[in-house]
Amino acid sequence: MTRVGHRRSPATGGCPERPERVVTLTPVCGIVGYVGWRGAQEVLVNGLRRLEYRGYDSAGVAVVDGRGELEVHRAAGPLDNLVAVLPEGGATGEGTGRGGTTGMGHTRWATHGPPTDRNAHPHRDAASKVAVVHNGIIENFVALRAELEAAGVELASDTDSEVAAHLVARAFAADPDAGLTAAVRAVVARLEGAFTLVFTHADSPDEIVAARRSSPLVVGVGEGEMFVASDVAAFIDHTREAVELGQDQIVTLTRGGAVVTDFLGEPARTRPFHVDWDIAAAEKGGHDFFMLKEIEEQPAALADTLRGHLVDGRIVLDEQRLSDQELRDIDKVFVVACGTAYHAGLLAKYAIEHWCRIPVEVEVASEFRYRDPVLDRSTLVVAISQSGETADTLEAVRHARDQKARVLAICNTNGAQIPRESDAVLYTHAGPEVGVAATKTFTAQVIACYLVGLALAQTFGTKYADEVAREYAELEASTDAVARVLEAVVEPARALARELAASKAVLFLGRHVGFPVALEGALKLKELAYMHAEGFAAGELKHGPIALIEQDLPVVVVMPSPKGRAILHQKLLSNIREIQARGARTIVVAEEGDETVRPFAEHLIEVPAVSTLLQPLVASVPLQVFAAEVARARGYDVDKPRNLAKSVTVE
Ligand code: G6P
Repeated sequence: MTRVGHRRSPATGGCPERPERVVTLTPVCGIVGYVGWRGAQEVLVNGLRRLEYRGYDSAGVAVVDGRGELEVHRAAGPLDNLVAVLPEGGATGEGTGRGGTTGMGHTRWATHGPPTDRNAHPHRDAASKVAVVHNGIIENFVALRAELEAAGVELASDTDSEVAAHLVARAFAADPDAGLTAAVRAVVARLEGAFTLVFTHADSPDEIVAARRSSPLVVGVGEGEMFVASDVAAFIDHTREAVELGQDQIVTLTRGGAVVTDFLGEPARTRPFHVDWDIAAAEKGGHDFFMLKEIEEQPAALADTLRGHLVDGRIVLDEQRLSDQELRDIDKVFVVACGTAYHAGLLAKYAIEHWCRIPVEVEVASEFRYRDPVLDRSTLVVAISQSGETADTLEAVRHARDQKARVLAICNTNGAQIPRESDAVLYTHAGPEVGVAATKTFTAQVIACYLVGLALAQTFGTKYADEVAREYAELEASTDAVARVLEAVVEPARALARELAASKAVLFLGRHVGFPVALEGALKLKELAYMHAEGFAAGELKHGPIALIEQDLPVVVVMPSPKGRAILHQKLLSNIREIQARGARTIVVAEEGDETVRPFAEHLIEVPAVSTLLQPLVASVPLQVFAAEVARARGYDVDKPRNLAKSVTVE
């Protein structure tokens, strides 16, 4: 068996592991488990605060209290609803004076059963001995439920998860000496689908047992205490030493350490790592919302993403399991991603085609694999995902690998599933992003895409070393430009947002690299402010969208530099005139000193002059601030937009 103790471990370096099997994908929920010496309730609630981005329609905790009994509290709605019903000072076992130091917590994104108190996790068996939290879908739960009901068990919720508690309770009762781990092993062998589960048993209060299939699970290794969670953010207050669990592994945690086996009980390989960001990175740092803090962190996120990738005049990736020859053989690139990451991917096309002269197609991951794209050994699929666990992107990666294509992942989460299943990886070192709407990870993804473009250009020989170094230096300089934007535009963008907060709709127009910026600007406004917002290629305006223009409709126009591509600049000026003539209010994002646009801009947002490919970095920032501030002015929770989750692990 693999024993994990408290020791320092390497910072990064995922193992070139292939998936043990292709599994069904799971919804996103947050899980945290603890066994140690602190009051478990407080540890769990603090952990859940950091996991709320994974789902926030109900939450719950279970603690084995000082009497050796399970104390469970659950509440529909945000975490604060749970906090309101928790006993002050934690689950102590009234009158015993001994605190409960073992337990688990959960924050839910509902799939089976509405988000009510009774469907909130943790779930228990009828005797309240076993508690379970679950992330995933147990596909054969109907059959298992019927089997339990036939045996006289009454189920207390509509969830698929509850069956696991009853099954483990029965397996444990059948052979208590074999222990909780054996009971869990016996039960997971019967479960179909995707499940990451954490169990505790009131009769075995000094351990928790977790099983991982599909959804992420990380162990935190403390001094005399152990944690398990969907994300290291849940325990970063207490330890930065972590162990990534692989697929189909079971971990038994006690105060002294962790024992990891596979589902058959055989020793299992694990990947210890040191978390290289600290608690401050996971706090709001004086801001009302994480998103506002994350917007401001962009210069650092860009610099950290670039750092260390130019070594002896060559661009190096974080992980590369492809030979130079395999890379040289690439003759076509597909970029696949979802949401904001897809917009970063659109920008990859401009850079890679320009620098490498090979065709690049960009596609939303959910469409890519269903249309039978032409893939072979000489195709490179670049998968972009902040979380590294988005179901559509992961399945696109698997499809590409099945077709023998090479896969390069751009990811912000060390050791997540997508990088694990890829041939090469470039990490965006943006740090934890808590706001559901991506900001710093977007601009970091754009920079990472450009690094990939330069790496390919050097491999193909379409750029000399000195040219690569020059481009790299420009990328580095962009961090200052973004910092200047932040200094200059936050206040004006805020004021503008307040002014336009009551608008019914906003349109965004751009050309060339300004087009993805327009799409991203519209997406941000849509997801945060629940406002109708659309982004268009400005040239398409006359083919339909112009019909939407009416008196006082705000239209954001992303202007190209008047210097580089004067022809594009001219065309956009014409587009502005067309919409102004029809009554639109123009909000123009333009380069500092672009006097020609001034007369046409009702509101002018000036951004520093940078090279064409870097313009999306400086132009996106004011649109992020604008969207966040419109949402705030409308009274919405900027970090947790309705109906959204940060990582979407369902297809
Ligand atoms: C969700 C998030 C978006 C994100 C997208 C892709 O929809 O709300 O902000 O861009 O997923 O996420 P990924 O983790 O793959 O980048």
